[in-house]
Amino acid sequence: MATITLYGATGTIGSRVLREALERGHRVTAVLRDPAKLDLTHPGLTVAAGDVLDPASVAEQAKGSDVVVSAVGGGDGPGHVATVRPSAEALVDGLRTLGADAPRLIAVGGAGSLRTPDGKQVWDAEGLPEFLLQIMHAHGDALDHYRTVDDVRWTNLSPAALIEPGERTGAYRVGLEDLLLDADGNSRISTEDYAVALVDEIERPQYVGRRFTVGY
Ligand SMILES: NC(=O)c1ccc[n+]([C@@H]2O[C@H](COP(=O)([O-])OP(=O)(O)OC[C@H]3O[C@@H](n4cnc5c(N)ncnc54)[C@H](OP(=O)(O)O)[C@@H]3O)[C@@H](O)[C@H]2O)c1
Repeated sequence: MATITLYGATGTIGSRVLREALERGHRVTAVLRDPAKLDLTHPGLTVAAGDVLDPASVAEQAKGSDVVVSAVGGGDGPGHVATVRPSAEALVDGLRTLGADAPRLIAVGGAGSLRTPDGKQVWDAEGLPEFLLQIMHAHGDALDHYRTVDDVRWTNLSPAALIEPGERTGAYRVGLEDLLLDADGNSRISTEDYAVALVDEIERPQYVGRRFTVGY
């Protein structure tokens, strides 16, 4: 059983991570800007108020946990720019203050920086709308930051290009820097199976200090 501090528990991905973690018997503290927004009671769940953009708040909420999970987003492009890398910096800065006792960190990333079969990156595709490019590069900037960090045990988990609510199959493939494509050439994962992969990484750490990706 792990103790998990979770940011983004009200979100599409974070709510699936929350459910998966609770169903597997882990203890979760969901840290929200507005705790009233989480309409869930469960014996393994504690809800707390906190700010992922404030290192002191992160340290306070993370202290004593085994792992911090960040599934935060920002809605539109500018919202992601204002949230994704700044939260990466605040999470790292907050965890640093806990020294050797700091929990590890698993952050939900983006698919934009993954390599495509033509040797480019997902965000190089022609015709992508500006808001999506901003979101992709916000995640790329956060990953760039994590890659400078060697004193906090971080992991960045990029979804497949398409992630949406669906079935929990429990089956997924894992990659590192390359976009995962299925037999039909599509890159996809359900939010439920993404959550399975993330909680698997909590239970059996394999990608500390690295980015990895999951897809079918
Ligand atoms: N293919 C891809 O690469 C891909 C696809 C989908 C999503 N993603 C990424 O995955 C992440 C999660 O996506 P999602 O669809 O689950 O997002 P979402 O449904 O919009 O949820 C975002 C969550 O972040 C929280 N949040 C935002 N700003 C915060 C702050 N300053 N402090 C604390 N919490 C904050 C929100 O809390 P409130 O309830 O307080 O607003 C909410 O729980 C995003 O970064 C998104 O870009 C990547």
